[in-house]
Amino acid sequence: MSILNNNSVPIYLDRNEYNFEVSALVEDVIRSFSPAEFTHYTRCFQRGIKSELSQYIADMYNIAEKNVILGYGGEDILKSVIHCFLRGGDRQRKILIPTYSWWYYKSIAEEVNGTTLMYPLYEDGYEFKYNIPEIKCLLNKEKPDMLLLASPNNPTGNSLTTDEIKEILNNVGQQTIVVIDEAYTLFNTRDISYIAPLITEYPNLLIIRTFSKFYGLPGLRLGYAFMGEKLRPFDAYSTMYLGFNILSEKIGIKALQSTDFYSEKAEIMQQDKELYKKILNAISGFKVYNSDANFILIKYPIELKEKLQLEFAKANIVVKFMNEEGLRSHIRITLGTPNVNRQVIQIIEKVAAE
Ligand SMILES: Cc1ncc(COP(=O)(O)O)c(C=O)c1O
Repeated sequence: MSILNNNSVPIYLDRNEYNFEVSALVEDVIRSFSPAEFTHYTRCFQRGIKSELSQYIADMYNIAEKNVILGYGGEDILKSVIHCFLRGGDRQRKILIPTYSWWYYKSIAEEVNGTTLMYPLYEDGYEFKYNIPEIKCLLNKEKPDMLLLASPNNPTGNSLTTDEIKEILNNVGQQTIVVIDEAYTLFNTRDISYIAPLITEYPNLLIIRTFSKFYGLPGLRLGYAFMGEKLRPFDAYSTMYLGFNILSEKIGIKALQSTDFYSEKAEIMQQDKELYKKILNAISGFKVYNSDANFILIKYPIELKEKLQLEFAKANIVVKFMNEEGLRSHIRITLGTPNVNRQVIQIIEKVAAE
């Protein structure tokens, strides 16, 4: 039976948002919040911590609170760290980023007149891969001020293992700050035990995470990060002396306490990634890449682009047709509800069969 229909409101599958309900703990804390709590600053600073949330995260990750950073989404932390370390002064500074990656990295570097250099990602069967020897070689040659790694990477969906991260970090000069954007982590593995040892061992490392993807709260605008000791100047740059948003913090803590709930949603997404692969990889000219995130990247025959655009528009489903060099015949699609994922698959099957 066909489940194709015209959705009455647009279904956005283009920004890697969350298409399930929030956890009961999150909902309860919002409903029971007393507006009177907004009448004062949190005064956490007087207790020697940034906030209740940074302390909660520190305990959860077994890291000192002073090494935890909070921000208005991962976006804010990325922007601040790039501004902090790439801002000119005596010379133009350099950042190394993956070729296929979030457009925003380059855009922030340009804001402070930084030079962006790219290191390639290579397609290998059904996945994209980092080439570690090549990254090491470039690090040695360019001696950048900042190296940005994204794991899982957007839009390719591939991740780095802890050993690969270490291999890169062991070959980075002390002049280079390494930022790992882990916005899309936790979808494939809930292991967080590697973070504390990395942060202790590598003082020039910053690992950024967010509540927007796995914890499904992009509208909350809340991100967090772990920093090594060499990033002290950044701590001063990003800390809010008068505190953070008290309601956001409470919601953040409840989201972290709901990890099992969100893991169940990630498992539903995982099953539908498998469905996408099973059905679409069987169609000539289509390729669904393995993804460790809440989206999938699909390669399609470019001559079908207009038809696909038309059918998605008819169904009121917004997906992201990629438009960058090397990825022009690719679509990135956020995992939706099981029903919507099946609609998407049917649209693609129908266009491919015409
Ligand atoms: C790779 C990557 N990093 C970071 C972010 C920032 O997310 P947020 O600012 O909502 O935490 C995004 C958002 O889509 C992203 O794709």
